Amino acid sequence: MTVQISPSVLAADFARLADDAALVASTADWLHIDVMDGDFVPNLTIGLPVVAALLKHTPLPLDCHLMIADPDRWAPDYAAAGARNVTIHAEAVSAPVRTLRAIRSAGARAGLGINPGTPVDPYAELLPEVDMLLVMTVEPGFGGQAFLDLVLPKVRRARELIARHGGEIWLQVDGGVTEETIERCAEAGADNFVAGTAVFGAREPAAAVEHLRATAAAAGRRPGASAS
Ligand code: DX5
Ligand code: ZN
Repeated sequence: MTVQISPSVLAADFARLADDAALVASTADWLHIDVMDGDFVPNLTIGLPVVAALLKHTPLPLDCHLMIADPDRWAPDYAAAGARNVTIHAEAVSAPVRTLRAIRSAGARAGLGINPGTPVDPYAELLPEVDMLLVMTVEPGFGGQAFLDLVLPKVRRARELIARHGGEIWLQVDGGVTEETIERCAEAGADNFVAGTAVFGAREPAAAVEHLRATAAAAGRRPGASAS
């Protein structure tokens, strides 16, 4: 499997976003942007104007995670602005097929996210419409929360459904991903890892990305790991 690391700027300094993005530009694959509207989740972060501004100041592709109540209305705009991946939540979207297609038509990869309490099986039919499935490993809304091990069987199941479908769909985990928990995620079949605190809370964020990548890659190669 090819491991991808997507540092979340939720754990960076919002007043120095471009500087903090630069810290991981040489080692990260993506920059994960948590867009929260204070409605779908009880927290408010940044939106389209900040994403558009940041695009001009980082070479990293932006992975926009929309935790907003009306992704049907807003998701295509993030893709049109230049985000390389746009993930919407299954719990919030009204017309998933239309919105996922609109994201792709606007030039981005389309991601579909599910919360810890949302089963993955009902979304198997949507796999042809997505480029990445995001399985949340905390309740969305805040950084620095403890990883929920109870989600791991669902990560494994998601990998099975993706394998059955065929094609190249990435499986992302987000929330509480650290040097300690990333192994379990990789063994369960995840290949794209969001990490906020574990990267920007580290003394050397670039090195933290490399360590996470090496740990995940080793765990993904272990016998019994759900191959991606
Ligand atoms: C939580 C966000 C995450 C968050 C992860 O709702 O979606 O991306 O930044 O932060 P850590 O890695 O600190 O759990
Ligand atoms: Zn996120």
